[in-house]
Amino acid sequence: MSKNLFSEFTKKGFVKIKLDKKYMSAYKKLKKNIRNDFPKNFKKNKFENLHHIVNFDEINSIRMKIIRSINIEKDLKKNIYLSAKSFLDQLLGADIVVQKSVNLAIQMPNDNSRPMFHKDTPLSSKYEVVLWIPLVDCSKSMCMTMIDKKYHDEANKLFDNLNRNSETKFQKFSKLKGSNFPVKFGEALIFSTDNFHYIPINDTNKTRWSLNIRFKNLFTPYGERNLLDYFEILKTSPITNLLTN
Ligand SMILES: [Fe+2]
Repeated sequence: MSKNLFSEFTKKGFVKIKLDKKYMSAYKKLKKNIRNDFPKNFKKNKFENLHHIVNFDEINSIRMKIIRSINIEKDLKKNIYLSAKSFLDQLLGADIVVQKSVNLAIQMPNDNSRPMFHKDTPLSSKYEVVLWIPLVDCSKSMCMTMIDKKYHDEANKLFDNLNRNSETKFQKFSKLKGSNFPVKFGEALIFSTDNFHYIPINDTNKTRWSLNIRFKNLFTPYGERNLLDYFEILKTSPITNLLTN
């Protein structure tokens, strides 16, 4: 894993990484399982074309059903971790916890129901990172817009004056100061929970599918998302094992 990726992460609070090719079969299998479990929502369509069959009223309940079904798969979290292990291990250290359930977002073209401009802290601890993994090639408004750490305070100010024009202000700010870059299937975005991010309305003609899951070091401070309810231990160091066995 190149040193540049870590300095880029430290500077901006986010970085795009390549997932380990050895574990791409796990993501392909996941997509195959989703397709097999929800045949009437796909017919012969590709994932990107889900909106040809599914409409805005149905999408959230379908998404929740898919989330339930993918979280039954017992090795999914482990494979996600392994696909980004070389980056995560160096970023977080030897004792790592992982979010208990994997999230799935589906953003169909022109669907305006989406989270507003936000950061995940203080609900999440500042010591958490989000691993965002697209299941389809994403470009332009299919992608999330990330706000560089250097604009953090400026973005925070927008929150101090929340009013009914805020959405337009967030949109303008994100367009001006945000980074929006393609993330393909096989790549992922890692970002600090303290970084602001914005989800634009998808004005492409493709549906965006993405997984997201959080990781942190076992011994760093927790936000409201705590170890018992929200996280589980993924791996521990020999010294931790020595002291807890
Ligand atoms: Fe978020």
